[in-house]
Amino acid sequence: MSHAAIIGVGSYLPERRLTNADLACMVDTSDEWILSRTGIAERRIVAEGEATSDMAAEAGARALADAGVDPGKVDLLIVATSTPDMPMPSAAALAQAKMGLSCPAMDVNAACTGFIYALQLGASAIESGRCRKVLVIGADTLSSIIDFTDRSTCVLFGDGAGAVLLRASKEPGVLGVHLGADGTGVEMLKIPAGGSAAPCTPERLAAHEQFVVMNGTEIFKFAVRRIPQVTRQALRESHLTVEDIDWLVPHQANQRIIDTIAERLGIPHDHVVSTIRDTGNTSAASIPLAIDALYTGGRLRPGQTLALVGFGAGVTWGAAIVRWTKKEDV
Ligand SMILES: CC(C)(COP(=O)(O)OP(=O)(O)OC[C@H]1O[C@@H](n2cnc3c(N)ncnc32)[C@H](O)[C@@H]1OP(=O)(O)O)[C@@H](O)C(=O)NCCC(=O)NCCS
Repeated sequence: MSHAAIIGVGSYLPERRLTNADLACMVDTSDEWILSRTGIAERRIVAEGEATSDMAAEAGARALADAGVDPGKVDLLIVATSTPDMPMPSAAALAQAKMGLSCPAMDVNAACTGFIYALQLGASAIESGRCRKVLVIGADTLSSIIDFTDRSTCVLFGDGAGAVLLRASKEPGVLGVHLGADGTGVEMLKIPAGGSAAPCTPERLAAHEQFVVMNGTEIFKFAVRRIPQVTRQALRESHLTVEDIDWLVPHQANQRIIDTIAERLGIPHDHVVSTIRDTGNTSAASIPLAIDALYTGGRLRPGQTLALVGFGAGVTWGAAIVRWTKKEDV
């Protein structure tokens, strides 16, 4: 059986910055409240006409360039997103055309855990021998599903995309992945209208049901309980322990959640990647954006072990243990 390793990384953030001060002009909030409760100072917002597939294609093209791989050589494209450009076709199909790929393309929706789910699918496609190169992208335009009159949600989210290219390798890169879902948790985080259960009507639009509704306290409690658990499960499946983790790369939802998870796992702060201050919660993009920040910051060394951990609507959760490999060793 071949293994799957990451050989390229790329990301994309829209130009436009929305600061806490900007939000304080829109809803009853303050820079002090947002920064102290979430760790977020600003987030990026797409330009007029810019959509999820545009950001996905940029990030994907950068990952291919980083790996030095021609678009024609990609066997499968997976885009993790819960904010596709339109209900049909997938954001992946649109991004595939924008990147000049000719391979199969599909979306995966596991909300903010989407990137971990997509990584598992991509790695499995390689391990089964069906694919040699899989491009895995996390991309979300949260600004399209946020109610900018609701201070309890609008301060948390931002837009962006991150990508990794997986390739068949002799050495294991993606070591162990553990995923979970519990649909009884639907009420913690959802968009009530716009799907088959409640198509958008003028009444539902007037009631703002096309936007995210969230029980922040419940999500917080769920995340800090589940994530240490699933991280240990993925470590066990990789025959490793917490002491082997060089970098904890958590989903960037709230700095206090990140700190609590790290503390419960006993991982020192200087081994935890945090980008939330500048991006907010970018959903499926947040983990690959954090990997790219670590990578372009020159902090990743071959042989180091990463724990990628995520949680989100569904509810869903997951952890992936990844050994960082040098391209030439793969
Ligand atoms: C949303 C979250 C930041 C709220 O933080 P918190 O410390 O739990 O704050 P609370 O919800 O207890 O609210 C405290 C007060 O601040 C108020 N408040 C809420 N949002 C506010 C804002 N943007 N600005 C100012 N005040 C705000 C509340 O109304 C409440 O006021 P009250 O005490 O008068 O009722 C936090 O619960 C969280 O991050 N949860 C996880 C959310 C998440 O990660 N979602 C995505 C998952 S992928």
